[in-house]
Amino acid sequence: MSRTDSPSEFYTADVLVVGSGIAGCGAALAAARAGADVLLATKATTPDDAATDWAQGGIAVARSDPEQFRRDIVAASDDTADPEAVDLLVSQSRAVVTDVLVETLGIEFDRRGDDPDPDGDRPDYEYAREAGHAESRILHVDARTGHRILRPFLAYLRDHDRIRLLEDAAALELLTHEGRVHGAVLDTTPTGTPAVAGATVLATGGIGACYPRTTNPAAATGDGIAMAALAGAEVADMEFVQFHPTALAPESDDGSGRATPLISEAVRGAGGVLRNAAGERFMPEYHADAELAPRDVVARAVKRERATGGAVRLDVSGVAFDERFPGLARRCRERGVDPAAGIPVAPAEHFLCGGIAVDDRGRSSLENLFAVGECARTGVHGANRLASTSLLEGLVWGVRAGATAAETDGPSPDAVEPPTLRDRDPHLPDGFAAGKFERLRRVMGEHVGLVRDPEELSRAGSVLRRLKGEVDAYVRTRTTRELYELRNASVVALLVARAAANNRQSAGCHYLAEQPATRRP
Ligand code: SIN
Repeated sequence: MSRTDSPSEFYTADVLVVGSGIAGCGAALAAARAGADVLLATKATTPDDAATDWAQGGIAVARSDPEQFRRDIVAASDDTADPEAVDLLVSQSRAVVTDVLVETLGIEFDRRGDDPDPDGDRPDYEYAREAGHAESRILHVDARTGHRILRPFLAYLRDHDRIRLLEDAAALELLTHEGRVHGAVLDTTPTGTPAVAGATVLATGGIGACYPRTTNPAAATGDGIAMAALAGAEVADMEFVQFHPTALAPESDDGSGRATPLISEAVRGAGGVLRNAAGERFMPEYHADAELAPRDVVARAVKRERATGGAVRLDVSGVAFDERFPGLARRCRERGVDPAAGIPVAPAEHFLCGGIAVDDRGRSSLENLFAVGECARTGVHGANRLASTSLLEGLVWGVRAGATAAETDGPSPDAVEPPTLRDRDPHLPDGFAAGKFERLRRVMGEHVGLVRDPEELSRAGSVLRRLKGEVDAYVRTRTTRELYELRNASVVALLVARAAANNRQSAGCHYLAEQPATRRP
Protein backbone atom coordinates (compact mmCIF):
# COMPACT_ATOMS: atom_id res chain seq x y z
CA MET A 1 0.00 0.00 0.00
CA SER A 2 1.60 3.29 -0.97
CA ARG A 3 0.77 6.56 0.76
CA THR A 4 0.73 10.22 0.09
CA ASP A 5 0.78 13.08 2.59
CA SER A 6 -1.47 15.26 0.43
CA PRO A 7 -4.00 13.14 -1.34
CA SER A 8 -5.20 14.86 -4.47
CA GLU A 9 -8.41 12.91 -4.45
CA PHE A 10 -11.27 12.72 -1.96
CA TYR A 11 -14.19 10.40 -1.91
CA THR A 12 -17.30 12.35 -1.08
CA ALA A 13 -20.71 11.10 -0.05
CA ASP A 14 -23.72 12.29 1.87
CA VAL A 15 -23.37 9.26 4.10
CA LEU A 16 -20.28 7.12 4.66
CA VAL A 17 -21.04 3.68 6.09
CA VAL A 18 -18.06 1.72 7.39
CA GLY A 19 -18.66 -2.04 7.58
CA SER A 20 -20.70 -4.49 5.53
CA GLY A 21 -22.57 -6.76 7.94
CA ILE A 22 -26.33 -6.58 8.34
CA ALA A 23 -26.17 -3.30 10.31
CA GLY A 24 -24.00 -1.50 7.75
CA CYS A 25 -26.09 -2.86 4.87
CA GLY A 26 -29.29 -1.77 6.64
CA ALA A 27 -27.89 1.73 7.17
CA ALA A 28 -26.75 2.02 3.56
CA LEU A 29 -30.13 0.86 2.27
CA ALA A 30 -32.11 3.27 4.47
CA ALA A 31 -29.87 6.24 3.68
CA ALA A 32 -30.14 5.55 -0.06
CA ARG A 33 -33.90 5.13 0.20
CA ALA A 34 -34.00 8.57 1.83
CA GLY A 35 -32.22 10.04 -1.19
CA ALA A 36 -28.61 10.20 0.08
CA ASP A 37 -25.56 9.26 -1.94
CA VAL A 38 -23.89 6.53 0.06
CA LEU A 39 -20.33 5.26 0.18
CA LEU A 40 -20.26 1.82 1.80
CA ALA A 41 -16.62 1.14 2.67
CA THR A 42 -15.59 -2.19 4.09
CA LYS A 43 -12.31 -3.86 4.81
CA ALA A 44 -13.95 -7.14 3.85
CA THR A 45 -12.74 -8.76 0.68
CA THR A 46 -15.36 -11.53 0.86
CA PRO A 47 -18.76 -11.51 2.63
CA ASP A 48 -17.53 -13.98 5.25
CA ASP A 49 -15.18 -11.36 6.66
CA ALA A 50 -18.32 -10.02 8.39
CA ALA A 51 -19.73 -11.79 11.47
CA THR A 52 -23.22 -11.60 9.95
CA ASP A 53 -22.19 -14.19 7.41
CA TRP A 54 -21.35 -16.55 10.29
CA ALA A 55 -24.59 -16.05 12.21
CA GLN A 56 -26.35 -19.36 12.55
CA GLY A 57 -29.45 -19.33 14.76
CA GLY A 58 -31.58 -16.67 13.14
CA ILE A 59 -33.51 -13.51 13.75
CA ALA A 60 -36.07 -13.27 16.53
CA VAL A 61 -39.37 -11.48 15.86
CA ALA A 62 -42.35 -10.62 18.03
CA ARG A 63 -45.23 -13.04 17.55
CA SER A 64 -48.53 -13.13 19.39
CA ASP A 65 -46.96 -12.14 22.73
CA PRO A 66 -44.55 -9.20 22.31
CA GLU A 67 -44.67 -8.56 26.05
CA GLN A 68 -43.12 -11.97 26.67
CA PHE A 69 -40.39 -11.19 24.13
CA ARG A 70 -39.60 -8.01 26.11
CA ARG A 71 -39.50 -9.97 29.35
CA ASP A 72 -37.17 -12.56 27.84
CA ILE A 73 -34.70 -9.90 26.68
CA VAL A 74 -34.70 -8.24 30.09
CA ALA A 75 -34.35 -11.54 31.96
CA ALA A 76 -31.44 -12.63 29.74
CA SER A 77 -29.76 -9.28 30.45
CA ASP A 78 -29.86 -9.98 34.20
CA ASP A 79 -32.39 -7.13 34.48
CA THR A 80 -29.99 -4.55 33.11
CA ALA A 81 -31.35 -3.91 29.60
CA ASP A 82 -32.69 -0.43 28.84
CA PRO A 83 -36.50 -0.86 28.71
CA GLU A 84 -36.98 1.83 26.06
CA ALA A 85 -34.40 0.26 23.77
CA VAL A 86 -36.03 -3.14 24.32
CA ASP A 87 -39.48 -1.71 23.47
CA LEU A 88 -38.10 -0.26 20.28
CA LEU A 89 -36.45 -3.53 19.23
CA VAL A 90 -39.52 -5.62 19.90
CA SER A 91 -42.05 -3.23 18.41
CA GLN A 92 -40.05 -2.78 15.18
CA SER A 93 -39.02 -6.40 14.76
CA ARG A 94 -41.80 -7.77 12.61
CA ALA A 95 -42.10 -4.69 10.38
CA VAL A 96 -38.39 -4.30 9.61
CA VAL A 97 -37.87 -8.01 8.92
CA THR A 98 -40.90 -8.04 6.61
CA ASP A 99 -39.92 -4.85 4.80
CA VAL A 100 -36.18 -5.38 4.32
CA LEU A 101 -35.58 -9.11 4.46
CA VAL A 102 -38.78 -10.60 3.08
CA GLU A 103 -40.18 -7.98 0.70
CA THR A 104 -37.01 -6.20 -0.47
CA LEU A 105 -34.49 -9.03 -0.49
CA GLY A 106 -36.87 -11.98 -0.90
CA ILE A 107 -35.28 -14.06 1.88
CA GLU A 108 -37.07 -17.40 2.15
CA PHE A 109 -37.09 -18.28 5.82
CA ASP A 110 -37.67 -21.96 6.56
CA ARG A 111 -41.31 -22.95 6.54
CA ARG A 112 -43.30 -25.94 7.57
CA GLY A 113 -46.74 -26.32 6.13
CA ASP A 114 -48.29 -28.48 8.80
CA ASP A 115 -48.05 -26.18 11.82
CA PRO A 116 -50.38 -23.19 11.50
CA ASP A 117 -49.03 -20.10 13.17
CA PRO A 118 -51.30 -18.42 15.74
CA ASP A 119 -50.27 -15.02 14.28
CA GLY A 120 -52.13 -15.95 11.14
CA ASP A 121 -50.10 -13.59 8.96
CA ARG A 122 -47.34 -15.99 7.96
CA PRO A 123 -49.03 -19.33 8.39
CA ASP A 124 -46.13 -21.64 7.82
CA TYR A 125 -42.84 -20.21 9.13
CA GLU A 126 -40.88 -22.71 11.16
CA TYR A 127 -39.99 -20.63 14.21
CA ALA A 128 -37.10 -22.01 16.26
CA ARG A 129 -36.53 -21.69 19.97
CA GLU A 130 -33.22 -20.87 21.65
CA ALA A 131 -31.94 -20.33 25.16
CA GLY A 132 -33.76 -17.67 27.16
CA HIS A 133 -36.79 -17.57 24.82
CA ALA A 134 -40.09 -18.57 26.40
CA GLU A 135 -41.53 -19.43 22.99
CA SER A 136 -40.40 -20.34 19.48
CA ARG A 137 -39.96 -17.02 17.67
CA ILE A 138 -36.77 -17.28 15.63
CA LEU A 139 -36.90 -17.09 11.86
CA HIS A 140 -34.03 -18.98 10.27
CA VAL A 141 -32.68 -20.57 7.14
CA ASP A 142 -31.21 -23.92 8.19
CA ALA A 143 -28.51 -22.82 10.68
CA ARG A 144 -26.95 -20.50 8.07
CA THR A 145 -29.30 -17.57 8.48
CA GLY A 146 -26.69 -14.79 8.37
CA HIS A 147 -25.08 -16.20 5.24
CA ARG A 148 -28.45 -16.49 3.51
CA ILE A 149 -29.30 -12.88 4.37
CA LEU A 150 -25.97 -11.18 3.72
CA ARG A 151 -25.24 -12.47 0.22
CA PRO A 152 -28.49 -11.18 -1.33
CA PHE A 153 -28.21 -7.98 0.72
CA LEU A 154 -24.77 -7.17 -0.71
CA ALA A 155 -25.93 -8.07 -4.23
CA TYR A 156 -28.90 -5.73 -3.86
CA LEU A 157 -26.75 -2.83 -2.61
CA ARG A 158 -24.15 -3.39 -5.30
CA ASP A 159 -26.84 -2.76 -7.94
CA HIS A 160 -28.27 0.29 -6.19
CA ASP A 161 -27.62 3.49 -8.10
CA ARG A 162 -27.16 5.62 -4.97
CA ILE A 163 -24.69 3.29 -3.29
CA ARG A 164 -21.01 2.82 -4.07
CA LEU A 165 -19.58 -0.30 -2.45
CA LEU A 166 -15.83 -0.11 -1.81
CA GLU A 167 -14.30 -3.40 -0.69
CA ASP A 168 -10.84 -4.00 0.78
CA ALA A 169 -11.00 -0.44 2.16
CA ALA A 170 -10.38 -0.27 5.91
CA ALA A 171 -11.09 2.97 7.75
CA LEU A 172 -7.99 4.04 9.67
CA GLU A 173 -8.94 7.30 11.37
CA LEU A 174 -12.05 9.44 11.67
CA LEU A 175 -11.86 12.91 10.12
CA THR A 176 -12.87 15.38 12.82
CA HIS A 177 -13.06 19.14 12.96
CA GLU A 178 -14.32 21.19 15.89
CA GLY A 179 -16.12 18.25 17.48
CA ARG A 180 -17.83 17.14 14.28
CA VAL A 181 -17.05 14.01 12.34
CA HIS A 182 -16.59 14.51 8.60
CA GLY A 183 -15.81 11.01 7.39
CA ALA A 184 -12.77 8.78 7.63
CA VAL A 185 -9.42 8.08 6.05
CA LEU A 186 -9.55 4.84 4.07
CA ASP A 187 -6.55 2.66 3.33
CA THR A 188 -7.54 2.29 -0.30
CA THR A 189 -4.85 1.52 -2.81
CA PRO A 190 -2.90 3.37 -4.16
CA THR A 191 -3.41 6.26 -1.75
CA GLY A 192 -4.70 6.69 1.79
CA THR A 193 -7.79 8.55 0.72
CA PRO A 194 -10.09 10.69 2.83
CA ALA A 195 -13.76 9.86 2.41
CA VAL A 196 -15.53 13.09 3.32
CA ALA A 197 -19.17 12.70 4.29
CA GLY A 198 -22.02 14.62 5.85
CA ALA A 199 -22.60 11.73 8.26
CA THR A 200 -20.52 8.70 9.13
CA VAL A 201 -22.06 5.42 10.29
CA LEU A 202 -19.73 2.93 11.96
CA ALA A 203 -20.83 -0.69 11.59
CA THR A 204 -17.51 -2.42 12.10
CA GLY A 205 -18.58 -5.33 14.30
CA GLY A 206 -17.04 -6.89 17.38
CA ILE A 207 -13.80 -7.66 19.14
CA GLY A 208 -13.32 -11.42 18.79
CA ALA A 209 -9.70 -10.93 17.65
CA CYS A 210 -8.88 -9.86 21.21
CA TYR A 211 -9.53 -13.37 22.57
CA PRO A 212 -7.77 -16.70 22.10
CA ARG A 213 -10.96 -18.50 21.05
CA THR A 214 -13.79 -16.75 19.29
CA THR A 215 -16.72 -17.43 17.01
CA ASN A 216 -15.97 -14.16 15.13
CA PRO A 217 -14.07 -13.76 11.87
CA ALA A 218 -10.43 -12.62 12.13
CA ALA A 219 -11.44 -9.15 10.96
CA ALA A 220 -13.22 -8.45 14.29
CA THR A 221 -10.52 -6.15 15.66
CA GLY A 222 -12.78 -3.53 17.24
CA ASP A 223 -11.91 -0.91 14.60
CA GLY A 224 -14.97 1.34 14.91
CA ILE A 225 -14.96 1.35 18.69
CA ALA A 226 -11.26 2.23 18.79
CA MET A 227 -11.54 4.98 16.18
CA ALA A 228 -14.58 6.48 17.89
CA ALA A 229 -13.03 6.30 21.37
CA LEU A 230 -9.80 7.90 20.10
CA ALA A 231 -11.89 10.69 18.57
CA GLY A 232 -13.55 11.29 21.96
CA ALA A 233 -16.88 9.45 21.55
CA GLU A 234 -18.50 7.95 24.62
CA VAL A 235 -18.30 4.18 24.98
CA ALA A 236 -20.25 2.13 27.53
CA ASP A 237 -20.73 -1.37 28.92
CA MET A 238 -17.40 -2.58 27.56
CA GLU A 239 -17.04 -5.17 30.33
CA PHE A 240 -20.02 -7.13 29.00
CA VAL A 241 -18.29 -9.56 26.66
CA GLN A 242 -20.47 -12.54 25.89
CA PHE A 243 -19.05 -16.06 25.56
CA HIS A 244 -21.05 -18.63 23.64
CA PRO A 245 -21.27 -21.89 25.60
CA THR A 246 -21.14 -24.31 22.69
CA ALA A 247 -18.34 -23.63 20.26
CA LEU A 248 -17.06 -26.82 18.66
CA ALA A 249 -14.06 -28.16 20.60
CA PRO A 250 -12.75 -31.35 19.02
CA GLU A 251 -10.23 -33.25 21.17
CA SER A 252 -7.63 -32.72 18.46
CA ASP A 253 -8.03 -28.95 19.05
CA ASP A 254 -4.97 -27.67 20.89
CA GLY A 255 -6.64 -24.31 21.46
CA SER A 256 -4.35 -22.46 19.07
CA GLY A 257 -6.91 -22.07 16.27
CA ARG A 258 -8.81 -18.91 17.12
CA ALA A 259 -11.95 -18.79 15.00
CA THR A 260 -13.97 -21.75 16.03
CA PRO A 261 -17.30 -22.94 14.59
CA LEU A 262 -20.38 -22.50 16.65
CA ILE A 263 -22.87 -25.21 17.46
CA SER A 264 -25.97 -23.07 17.39
CA GLU A 265 -28.16 -22.65 20.43
CA ALA A 266 -30.97 -23.74 18.14
CA VAL A 267 -29.64 -27.28 18.66
CA ARG A 268 -30.35 -27.02 22.38
CA GLY A 269 -33.67 -25.38 21.51
CA ALA A 270 -34.49 -28.47 19.46
CA GLY A 271 -33.68 -30.81 22.36
CA GLY A 272 -29.88 -31.14 22.55
CA VAL A 273 -28.62 -31.68 26.11
CA LEU A 274 -25.21 -31.06 27.68
CA ARG A 275 -23.37 -33.93 29.38
CA ASN A 276 -20.17 -33.90 31.38
CA ALA A 277 -17.27 -36.33 31.10
CA ALA A 278 -19.19 -38.84 33.25
CA GLY A 279 -22.10 -38.69 30.80
CA GLU A 280 -24.33 -36.86 33.30
CA ARG A 281 -26.69 -34.11 32.27
CA PHE A 282 -25.63 -31.21 34.49
CA MET A 283 -27.54 -28.06 33.46
CA PRO A 284 -30.65 -28.76 35.61
CA GLU A 285 -28.38 -28.36 38.67
CA TYR A 286 -27.33 -24.89 37.54
CA HIS A 287 -30.61 -23.32 36.44
CA ALA A 288 -34.31 -24.13 36.29
CA ASP A 289 -34.27 -23.62 32.51
CA ALA A 290 -31.38 -26.09 32.17
CA GLU A 291 -29.86 -25.98 28.65
CA LEU A 292 -32.14 -23.05 27.79
CA ALA A 293 -30.89 -20.85 30.65
CA PRO A 294 -29.38 -17.46 29.71
CA ARG A 295 -26.21 -17.82 27.72
CA ASP A 296 -23.81 -16.54 30.39
CA VAL A 297 -25.15 -19.09 32.88
CA VAL A 298 -24.71 -22.00 30.46
CA ALA A 299 -21.23 -20.80 29.42
CA ARG A 300 -19.98 -20.68 33.02
CA ALA A 301 -21.49 -24.09 33.76
CA VAL A 302 -19.74 -25.61 30.73
CA LYS A 303 -16.45 -24.01 31.77
CA ARG A 304 -16.80 -25.37 35.29
CA GLU A 305 -17.70 -28.89 34.19
CA ARG A 306 -14.76 -28.92 31.78
CA ALA A 307 -12.41 -27.74 34.51
CA THR A 308 -13.52 -30.38 36.97
CA GLY A 309 -14.28 -33.35 34.75
CA GLY A 310 -12.87 -32.94 31.22
CA ALA A 311 -14.77 -32.86 27.94
CA VAL A 312 -18.36 -31.61 27.81
CA ARG A 313 -20.52 -32.95 24.98
CA LEU A 314 -23.72 -31.86 23.38
CA ASP A 315 -25.89 -34.94 23.13
CA VAL A 316 -27.99 -34.65 19.97
CA SER A 317 -29.55 -38.12 20.15
CA GLY A 318 -32.97 -36.54 20.74
CA VAL A 319 -32.65 -34.22 17.72
CA ALA A 320 -33.00 -35.11 14.05
CA PHE A 321 -29.58 -33.48 13.74
CA ASP A 322 -28.62 -34.35 10.18
CA GLU A 323 -32.00 -33.34 8.78
CA ARG A 324 -32.55 -30.25 10.88
CA PHE A 325 -28.95 -28.98 10.88
CA PRO A 326 -27.25 -30.35 7.76
CA GLY A 327 -24.64 -27.58 7.63
CA LEU A 328 -23.59 -28.15 11.25
CA ALA A 329 -23.51 -31.91 10.75
CA ARG A 330 -21.17 -31.45 7.80
CA ARG A 331 -18.94 -29.06 9.72
CA CYS A 332 -18.64 -31.52 12.62
CA ARG A 333 -17.65 -34.36 10.30
CA GLU A 334 -15.12 -32.15 8.48
CA ARG A 335 -13.41 -31.78 11.85
CA GLY A 336 -13.48 -35.47 12.64
CA VAL A 337 -16.44 -35.25 15.02
CA ASP A 338 -19.25 -37.81 14.77
CA PRO A 339 -22.35 -35.97 16.06
CA ALA A 340 -23.94 -39.27 17.15
CA ALA A 341 -21.14 -39.71 19.71
CA GLY A 342 -21.88 -36.29 21.27
CA ILE A 343 -20.37 -33.03 20.03
CA PRO A 344 -17.46 -31.75 22.17
CA VAL A 345 -18.07 -28.11 23.06
CA ALA A 346 -16.40 -25.27 24.97
CA PRO A 347 -17.14 -21.58 25.51
CA ALA A 348 -15.66 -19.04 23.09
CA GLU A 349 -15.88 -15.25 22.87
CA HIS A 350 -18.95 -14.43 20.82
CA PHE A 351 -20.38 -10.92 21.17
CA LEU A 352 -19.67 -7.56 22.80
CA CYS A 353 -22.83 -6.19 24.44
CA GLY A 354 -21.27 -2.74 24.97
CA GLY A 355 -19.60 -0.38 22.52
CA ILE A 356 -20.05 3.15 21.20
CA ALA A 357 -22.89 4.68 23.21
CA VAL A 358 -25.81 5.57 20.91
CA ASP A 359 -29.41 6.70 21.18
CA ASP A 360 -32.53 5.26 19.58
CA ARG A 361 -31.40 6.44 16.13
CA GLY A 362 -27.82 5.28 16.42
CA ARG A 363 -26.45 8.78 17.15
CA SER A 364 -23.20 8.80 19.11
CA SER A 365 -21.99 11.58 21.41
CA LEU A 366 -20.03 13.13 18.50
CA GLU A 367 -21.88 15.24 15.98
CA ASN A 368 -22.62 13.40 12.71
CA LEU A 369 -21.16 10.13 13.96
CA PHE A 370 -23.48 7.13 14.17
CA ALA A 371 -22.80 3.57 15.25
CA VAL A 372 -24.86 0.42 14.65
CA GLY A 373 -24.59 -3.32 15.11
CA GLU A 374 -22.09 -4.95 17.43
CA CYS A 375 -19.81 -1.91 17.67
CA ALA A 376 -22.70 0.09 19.17
CA ARG A 377 -24.12 0.05 22.67
CA THR A 378 -27.85 0.62 22.27
CA GLY A 379 -28.80 -0.64 25.74
CA VAL A 380 -30.87 -3.51 24.33
CA HIS A 381 -28.57 -6.19 25.70
CA GLY A 382 -27.54 -4.73 29.01
CA ALA A 383 -25.10 -7.14 30.62
CA ASN A 384 -25.98 -10.16 28.47
CA ARG A 385 -27.62 -10.62 25.08
CA LEU A 386 -30.59 -12.87 24.36
CA ALA A 387 -29.97 -15.35 21.53
CA SER A 388 -30.84 -14.30 17.97
CA THR A 389 -31.29 -10.63 18.76
CA SER A 390 -28.03 -9.41 17.21
CA LEU A 391 -29.11 -9.54 13.56
CA LEU A 392 -32.36 -7.92 14.63
CA GLU A 393 -30.64 -5.14 16.57
CA GLY A 394 -28.28 -4.52 13.64
CA LEU A 395 -31.18 -4.27 11.23
CA VAL A 396 -33.46 -2.12 13.40
CA TRP A 397 -30.75 0.36 14.41
CA GLY A 398 -29.05 0.19 11.01
CA VAL A 399 -32.21 1.27 9.21
CA ARG A 400 -33.01 4.00 11.76
CA ALA A 401 -29.46 5.37 11.75
CA GLY A 402 -29.22 5.31 7.95
CA ALA A 403 -32.48 7.25 7.57
CA THR A 404 -31.39 9.81 10.18
CA ALA A 405 -27.88 10.14 8.74
CA ALA A 406 -29.44 10.98 5.38
CA GLU A 407 -30.97 14.10 6.96
CA THR A 408 -27.62 15.71 7.81
CA ASP A 409 -26.05 18.38 5.58
CA GLY A 410 -23.90 17.02 2.78
CA PRO A 411 -20.11 16.67 2.88
CA SER A 412 -17.95 19.72 3.52
CA PRO A 413 -14.45 18.92 2.20
CA ASP A 414 -13.26 22.48 2.96
CA ALA A 415 -13.73 21.93 6.69
CA VAL A 416 -11.45 18.93 6.64
CA GLU A 417 -7.74 18.88 7.22
CA PRO A 418 -6.79 15.30 6.31
CA PRO A 419 -4.41 13.81 8.83
CA THR A 420 -0.93 13.16 7.58
CA LEU A 421 -0.43 9.47 7.18
CA ARG A 422 2.87 8.31 8.49
CA ASP A 423 4.99 6.38 6.08
CA ARG A 424 8.54 7.16 7.15
CA ASP A 425 9.17 3.49 7.65
CA PRO A 426 6.45 1.32 6.16
CA HIS A 427 7.96 -1.96 7.34
CA LEU A 428 7.25 -3.61 10.65
CA PRO A 429 9.79 -5.91 12.26
CA ASP A 430 9.03 -9.53 11.33
CA GLY A 431 6.41 -11.05 13.57
CA PHE A 432 5.80 -7.76 15.40
CA ALA A 433 2.01 -7.67 14.99
CA ALA A 434 1.57 -11.44 15.41
CA GLY A 435 3.63 -11.43 18.62
CA LYS A 436 1.78 -8.50 20.15
CA PHE A 437 -1.59 -9.95 19.18
CA GLU A 438 -0.66 -13.22 20.82
CA ARG A 439 0.29 -11.46 24.05
CA LEU A 440 -2.89 -9.42 24.00
CA ARG A 441 -5.07 -12.50 23.49
CA ARG A 442 -3.32 -14.41 26.21
CA VAL A 443 -3.92 -11.62 28.72
CA MET A 444 -7.56 -11.24 27.69
CA GLY A 445 -8.21 -15.00 27.73
CA GLU A 446 -6.55 -15.59 31.09
CA HIS A 447 -7.67 -12.51 33.01
CA VAL A 448 -10.57 -10.81 31.25
CA GLY A 449 -12.63 -13.88 30.36
CA LEU A 450 -15.72 -15.68 31.59
CA VAL A 451 -14.85 -15.59 35.30
CA ARG A 452 -12.96 -12.56 36.61
CA ASP A 453 -11.00 -11.45 39.61
CA PRO A 454 -10.54 -7.74 40.45
CA GLU A 455 -6.81 -8.02 41.14
CA GLU A 456 -6.19 -9.93 37.95
CA LEU A 457 -8.23 -7.37 36.05
CA SER A 458 -6.13 -4.52 37.27
CA ARG A 459 -2.90 -6.44 36.52
CA ALA A 460 -4.26 -7.16 33.03
CA GLY A 461 -4.95 -3.44 32.66
CA SER A 462 -1.29 -2.62 33.40
CA VAL A 463 0.01 -5.17 30.90
CA LEU A 464 -2.41 -3.96 28.23
CA ARG A 465 -1.48 -0.32 28.84
CA ARG A 466 2.19 -1.15 28.28
CA LEU A 467 1.34 -3.14 25.18
CA LYS A 468 -0.72 -0.28 23.79
CA GLY A 469 2.19 2.11 24.43
CA GLU A 470 4.52 -0.15 22.44
CA VAL A 471 2.04 -0.31 19.56
CA ASP A 472 1.43 3.46 19.62
CA ALA A 473 5.16 4.06 19.19
CA TYR A 474 4.99 2.21 15.88
CA VAL A 475 1.77 3.88 14.76
CA ARG A 476 3.56 7.25 15.02
CA THR A 477 5.81 6.35 12.13
CA ARG A 478 3.98 3.74 10.11
CA THR A 479 0.65 3.18 8.40
CA THR A 480 -0.30 -0.37 7.59
CA ARG A 481 -3.67 -2.01 8.04
CA GLU A 482 -2.14 -4.75 10.18
CA LEU A 483 -0.66 -2.17 12.54
CA TYR A 484 -3.92 -0.22 12.75
CA GLU A 485 -5.85 -3.40 13.51
CA LEU A 486 -3.38 -4.12 16.29
CA ARG A 487 -3.71 -0.54 17.54
CA ASN A 488 -7.50 -0.89 17.50
CA ALA A 489 -7.42 -4.23 19.32
CA SER A 490 -5.09 -2.79 21.95
CA VAL A 491 -7.44 0.17 22.50
CA VAL A 492 -10.56 -1.99 22.88
CA ALA A 493 -8.82 -4.61 25.02
CA LEU A 494 -7.80 -1.87 27.41
CA LEU A 495 -11.32 -0.44 27.40
CA VAL A 496 -12.73 -3.87 28.29
CA ALA A 497 -10.17 -4.53 31.02
CA ARG A 498 -10.65 -1.07 32.53
CA ALA A 499 -14.45 -1.26 32.49
CA ALA A 500 -14.29 -4.73 34.04
CA ALA A 501 -11.88 -3.58 36.76
CA ASN A 502 -14.12 -0.60 37.56
CA ASN A 503 -17.32 -2.64 37.88
CA ARG A 504 -17.37 -4.44 41.24
CA GLN A 505 -20.88 -5.81 40.71
CA SER A 506 -21.34 -9.16 38.97
CA ALA A 507 -24.05 -8.90 36.31
CA GLY A 508 -24.75 -11.02 33.23
CA CYS A 509 -21.52 -11.82 31.47
CA HIS A 510 -19.38 -9.73 33.83
CA TYR A 511 -18.92 -12.33 36.55
CA LEU A 512 -16.60 -11.83 39.50
CA ALA A 513 -15.52 -15.06 41.17
CA GLU A 514 -15.28 -13.45 44.59
CA GLN A 515 -18.79 -11.99 44.33
CA PRO A 516 -20.83 -14.48 42.36
CA ALA A 517 -24.31 -13.31 43.37
CA THR A 518 -25.95 -11.77 40.35
CA ARG A 519 -29.61 -10.89 40.13
CA ARG A 520 -30.28 -14.31 38.65
CA PRO A 521 -32.26 -17.00 40.47
C1 SIN B 1 -26.46 -19.28 17.88
O1 SIN B 1 -26.93 -19.70 16.83
O2 SIN B 1 -26.34 -19.98 18.88
C2 SIN B 1 -26.02 -17.87 17.96
C3 SIN B 1 -27.16 -16.97 17.89
C4 SIN B 1 -26.82 -15.66 18.50
O3 SIN B 1 -25.66 -15.40 18.83
O4 SIN B 1 -27.73 -14.89 18.73
